[in-house]
Amino acid sequence: MAKIGNIDLGEFPLLLAPMEDVSDPPFRAVCKENGADLMYTEFISSEGLIRDAIKSRQKLDIFDYERPIGIQIFGGDEEPMAMAAQIAAATNPDLVDINFGCPVKKVVSKGAGAGILKDVPKMIKLTAAVVKATSLPVTVKTRLGWDDDSRNIEEVAERLQDVGIQALTIHGRTRTQMYKGNADWTLIGKVKNNPRIHIPIFGNGDISTPEQAVSAREKYGVDGIMIGRAAIGYPWIFNEIRHFIQTGEHLPPPTVLERVRVCKKHLYHSIAWKGEIVGILEMRRHYTNYLKGLPHIKDFRQQLVTYKTLAELEEVLDAIATQYKDHIFERTAPQITEDDDLPTDNEMEHCNVYG
Ligand SMILES: Cc1cc2nc3c(=O)[nH]c(=O)nc-3n(C[C@H](O)[C@H](O)[C@H](O)COP(=O)(O)O)c2cc1C
Repeated sequence: MAKIGNIDLGEFPLLLAPMEDVSDPPFRAVCKENGADLMYTEFISSEGLIRDAIKSRQKLDIFDYERPIGIQIFGGDEEPMAMAAQIAAATNPDLVDINFGCPVKKVVSKGAGAGILKDVPKMIKLTAAVVKATSLPVTVKTRLGWDDDSRNIEEVAERLQDVGIQALTIHGRTRTQMYKGNADWTLIGKVKNNPRIHIPIFGNGDISTPEQAVSAREKYGVDGIMIGRAAIGYPWIFNEIRHFIQTGEHLPPPTVLERVRVCKKHLYHSIAWKGEIVGILEMRRHYTNYLKGLPHIKDFRQQLVTYKTLAELEEVLDAIATQYKDHIFERTAPQITEDDDLPTDNEMEHCNVYG
């Protein structure tokens, strides 16, 4: 049983990764429905929270049906981070998570995100300040180290535990790797199997199939896994993994009807959260992912990303459900975007990370 403070996450929990511009309430709603055991908000700038910036504030929106849910904050300075933890805690999440893993230059250059991996004493002081600032459990998400020559996660994990964090998620890459190459789980396993470590250790990086999840559990002994990219447009991944763990068998891939149903649910949540105009605009980035695997879908997709009313979008989605009702989906791993397609500095430039 994995437990964070009093939060019982059950056996081998499957966590939805915090993802900027992705893991907002509408996306979380469909991941929750499909079996995510613990979810996080997108990362929220401590400076933005203190300034009361709209974008940061909105990211604090959490709903009871999402529990347990963690709010993730980032920043490079103790005092603003402690204040941000208090602001986050006031919205009553189940836990507060600190982001020490973001590799983006804009964040790292301020000593925040993975930038702090270069200054472990500062990382420890900052974490202690956050732990002191709130009565909620504090967790951390980080990487193996700054670069190949400084893969210091074993030391970091012990020291973070010593100042009171209650769970640690490790993404098996260094900062300089960004999202390139394969995640290396060996060190994650070493942290987990360190007899000094008693907090839950969650592994993260490149899990996209039930087999990989089972192998991560058996090989590295982690207490649970966190899934990011594989859930984008494919929230069924959580139930698929859970089912495979429990039965050793695969669930059939979701039918087109199911895909359209969940896509609509995502759209409805998006509109309920942001209003019809913005909700429809923000949903546009998700259609390609939901429609992966359907042949000759370009015209429909074009309509989905241009139409402006809910009625029109529902009509297109219903037409897709009808036209492809006999389509047989192959059971393939949801595609993980690799290497340069990932949110490097350029891709994330549009993200108002300090907004
Ligand atoms: C679009 C995108 C946005 C991300 N934003 C965040 C974030 O806000 N906070 C964070 O800790 N990690 C963030 N990450 C990293 C993921 O949480 C995760 O560590 C990484 O994608 C590796 O896991 P995966 O292979 O399962 O995707 C982001 C990743 C992606 C692809």
